[in-house]
Amino acid sequence: MSDEPLGQRTAVYPGSFDPITRGHLEIVERALRLFDQVIVAVGRHPTKKGYFSVSERVDLISASIAHLPRARSANFDGLMVNFCVEQGASAIIRGLRPMGDFETEYQMGMANRDIAPTIETVFLIARPDHQFISSSLIREIAHHGGDFQRYVPEPVFEAMMSRLGSKAGS
Ligand code: COA
Repeated sequence: MSDEPLGQRTAVYPGSFDPITRGHLEIVERALRLFDQVIVAVGRHPTKKGYFSVSERVDLISASIAHLPRARSANFDGLMVNFCVEQGASAIIRGLRPMGDFETEYQMGMANRDIAPTIETVFLIARPDHQFISSSLIREIAHHGGDFQRYVPEPVFEAMMSRLGSKAGS
């Protein structure tokens, strides 16, 4: 890690967060036990089409982490390691689930280390009952009228219900 003084350690938790789920929230809460500040940062995936706009996702994260005073939301363009350097962060947080995350995460972690050797990648293993959750799965359940409330923070549930309602009415 970089030589940040103890008491000021910042980590960036990057992702698409389209939308943030309870699985993501659990990772933020656990990362706050390791770091003084966690920035939950919406990045741009090269191929994913957005369901919520980037600014909507940032606002939904902000509302979902309002109870966590040492966490904040942001968005970034370009490489996540460059954003980490800009923010004075010493680590990238990634949640790890058993279904196929490892190879991709390993490759990304190695590339990030090669580009920015002072930034560490910290993997947190997702809780067993959150390991199957993903943003697209939740969007799919919601689209087909299934009950998805338990998988998402309340502000996301409300935003998705209002979007589904406005689609149904149009
Ligand atoms: N709980 C629930 N779901 C989780 C999760 C958890 N703990 N951890 C990951 N997921 C899900 C996400 O919801 C997402 O699901 P989806 O595919 O249905 O949308 C999936 O796992 C992976 O998503 P995420 O962690 O958001 O990563 P991503 O592959 O969408 O990458 C960026 C997004 C923004 C981090 C990445 O594209 C990026 O940083 N781009 C910038 C350029 C860069 O630096 N690239 C790396 C170069 S080495």
